[in-house]
Amino acid sequence: MNLFEQQAKEFIPRHIGPDETDTRKMLKKIGVENLDQLISNTVPPAIRMDHLLNIPPAMSEHEYLKHIKDISLKNKVFANYIGQGYYDSITPSVILRNVFENPGWYTQYTPYQAEISQGRLESLLNYQTMVSDFTGLPIANASLLDEATAAAEAMTMFFNTLNKQDHIERPKFFVDREIFPQTKDVLLTRAVPIGIEIVEGDYKTAVFDSSYFGAMVQYPNNKGSIEDYRDFIQAVHAAGAYVTMATDLLALTLLVSPGELGADVAVGSAQRFGVPLGYGGPHAAFMSTKEDFKRNIPGRIIGISIDAKGNRALRMALQTREQHIKREKATSNICTAQALLANMAAMYAVFHGPDGLKNIAKRVALLTQTVAHAIEERGFELAADNFFDTIVVKVKDVTTVKEKAERQFINLRYIDANHIGISLDETTDIADLYDLINCFENDKDPVAFDIHHDDELHHIPAALTRASSFLTHPVFNTHKSESQMMRYIKKLENKDLSLNTSMISLGSCTMKLNAASEMMPLSWTNWGKIHPFAPTDQTQGYKYIIDELGKYLCEITAFDACSLQPNSGAQGEYAGLLTIKAYHDANGDHNRNVMLIPISAHGTNPASAVMAGMKVVVVKALENGYIDVEDLKAKAAQYSKDLSGIMITYPSTYGVYEETVKEITSFIHQHGGQVYMDGANMNAQVGLTAPGLIGADVCHLNLHKTFAIPHGGGGPGMGPICVKEHLAKFLPGHVEIGTDKAVSAAPYGSASILLISYGYIRMLGNEGVKAATEYAILNANYMRARLDGAYDILYTNNNGQCAHEFIVDLRPFKKSAEVEAEDVAKRLIDYGFHAPTMSFPVPGTIMIEPTESEDKAELDRFCDAMLSIREEIKAIEEGKADKKDNALKNAPHTQFVITADEWKHAYSRQEAAFPLYYVTLNKFWPSVARVNNTHGDRNLICTCEPIESYMESEV
Ligand SMILES: Cc1ncc(COP(=O)(O)O)c(C=O)c1O
Repeated sequence: MNLFEQQAKEFIPRHIGPDETDTRKMLKKIGVENLDQLISNTVPPAIRMDHLLNIPPAMSEHEYLKHIKDISLKNKVFANYIGQGYYDSITPSVILRNVFENPGWYTQYTPYQAEISQGRLESLLNYQTMVSDFTGLPIANASLLDEATAAAEAMTMFFNTLNKQDHIERPKFFVDREIFPQTKDVLLTRAVPIGIEIVEGDYKTAVFDSSYFGAMVQYPNNKGSIEDYRDFIQAVHAAGAYVTMATDLLALTLLVSPGELGADVAVGSAQRFGVPLGYGGPHAAFMSTKEDFKRNIPGRIIGISIDAKGNRALRMALQTREQHIKREKATSNICTAQALLANMAAMYAVFHGPDGLKNIAKRVALLTQTVAHAIEERGFELAADNFFDTIVVKVKDVTTVKEKAERQFINLRYIDANHIGISLDETTDIADLYDLINCFENDKDPVAFDIHHDDELHHIPAALTRASSFLTHPVFNTHKSESQMMRYIKKLENKDLSLNTSMISLGSCTMKLNAASEMMPLSWTNWGKIHPFAPTDQTQGYKYIIDELGKYLCEITAFDACSLQPNSGAQGEYAGLLTIKAYHDANGDHNRNVMLIPISAHGTNPASAVMAGMKVVVVKALENGYIDVEDLKAKAAQYSKDLSGIMITYPSTYGVYEETVKEITSFIHQHGGQVYMDGANMNAQVGLTAPGLIGADVCHLNLHKTFAIPHGGGGPGMGPICVKEHLAKFLPGHVEIGTDKAVSAAPYGSASILLISYGYIRMLGNEGVKAATEYAILNANYMRARLDGAYDILYTNNNGQCAHEFIVDLRPFKKSAEVEAEDVAKRLIDYGFHAPTMSFPVPGTIMIEPTESEDKAELDRFCDAMLSIREEIKAIEEGKADKKDNALKNAPHTQFVITADEWKHAYSRQEAAFPLYYVTLNKFWPSVARVNNTHGDRNLICTCEPIESYMESEV
């Protein structure tokens, strides 16, 4: 070993939990000699990769940080006035340090276990309240992927409301020509497969009839102009159709809200509320709507309910709308959203409050007005009279202005040869105005500015000046000092169980380590302050990461090309299915629209297929969880002529590597179909096998699972797709790179978090990523071995082994002890653990995925908790504990309940709260008792309610 070899590999044991001694003990428990034997017993030989991945060897953390700093310097940070939905912003340091850079905020999962998620649920409720207040519409969701997809979601929501699934009566959707180009692009991508006809035009002259189901305008629009849409909205409504307004939260502090103007839906991005540009993301998009659409609005809605003690408690509301339940009947496939970024934006609003935000908006508007006047004084004409932060200047030729701007390290928006856009933001100061005006100078000396906060805004028309109040709730008017803010953030953080408390063994979700060195570069200016539409000579650092990561992902998947555009796994599914569709179309096979999907698939699979205009045919599973090959063959043969393909998850969602997979994929190919592989379980493949080796044609990768991007409490995520050569030319394009068929607002999706996956691969290297897979399998099989006997383990392979996750059957206990899976999940909270995935893919079970990042001691604590719970169930079965009043049924137990003067249960307080010794060393207290699900759905409240109701229930 040379002097630095050991150091180069130092990250591998930091990422992988078990050490050599642990490994030996764990293998013994499983009953195998060594890791190789375990892997041979688990992964079918026919699909094994026979070589080490061709990616670079490991790099130490120190070396990596130096490397990524060097790459960052290839990006050039210019002052950005490009706008177009992306604005530079100031992340308040208290939010940067305590939320963005804090694993207590970025490592949680989507808040399914409401009792241990009250912190982020509260913050997301603040987000909804903020969006609802600004937009003047009562129902808001807790984030969508980006503004363009939010617009597309609104369009499809209207479409589905006014049309039947098998009969399109109203096919047309009007799009004003002055909406952002990237939004138009995504709308078009989403419209075509489902039969929507986009009609582009001028809202002022558009005429509507009963062939329209909806329309969309932007406020302020693409050129910055503030238009009064009241008459337009009335005309659309008169034709029985609905209106979406894309809008800007900061502008709405000064402008009459979309709701007040009559819009049915408002969408937009909350990026400029303290979230870095990051070359396109991640950012939270918003959507709000009228009451009428509360059961149709896509994405997550946080609602207020009560807990078992009658106290206020938050939860995700109306989940029956979601694709998990509705599958092919779902109207949206949103699963992962942008929770962390929604939380940052909400905290920004909490910190600044209504007055602070108005001050920021006023400052931006005054600076814009000043620069507009100065440019006009120099003989230039503006495209619009009414504006907030954006002006468009008419010029004879952009070239001279562009040269001057570039000399001053300024990016303007060069709309065409004769129009230049300038968008200001909260970072703009007086010195910037001089530089800006200098670009248009015409050899005049710059004027001296004398701008006062009380100056009038001359370019916001009186009829559109906001009179209604917003953010009146105390939460937006209390936390003004840094001490208050820091404590508020901490108070919420303390209510949530994150990876910095204990393992989160969510099957299919891969909650592995999100290492600090992977995360650190995200806070650096040279990554954060890059506009997604900056010229390519300024973005060479990003280009390097995108090219390299794309190459590694192709090598890992054994595919040939990669698109890094999709912002989530489900978005990747959609993009992948569109490539399949485009391929069939290019071959003249326009009829090929049947997608076979196994019954065990995740709900997003059928939902994405329907969005891609496909017909879903379900394939059965066998008793052992394998795809029923006979059923598959029958259906493939039945639909042969129209077969588009199959969507499979591998290893299956039952946690086994089906030996039949190659038979399945080749059979589909024989019938002219394509094979889509859902990459949610890639953590069981990397370095051992690959989608290309099992016969797939396209797959998505959840970078927020296998490749270490944190889940952020429900997002961000990234779902790039990799494809075989023949599909490469059908990958998503983007208007900014001169192509079309975009699925996301930005060409490389949430580009800044690609750094995390890049860092993960570079620091683990070719040996480390393979070892990660092997240890993920080891950890799962060790836990399986420990729990086997006490519990029934479903669906192991012929050697009795599972893949990287396994399913524990809890259904028998319903009969034997009246114990439901939910009781076990909630009881685990008393033991300090987040529940595994519940009732997916099999109702009444839990699916455990420990990942490679957990060490034996943590795995043992979890297993001890499960075994102790089994004993508690046994006590009920044997009549030693009451069927109704027991520690499982009453779980989780709050501190308030445990310390109450009254305790009437047959079990002790200590058994309730400290059932095992280790719990006494690191007790995590849930902040509410079991949350009542039906109450919240029956009485939907999804914005902060008046403060009195908090006070009554604060215990
Ligand atoms: C098997 C499977 N497919 C698809 C998805 C959807 O991925 P995303 O949440 O990133 O949209 C998930 C998410 O958990 C999943 O488990």
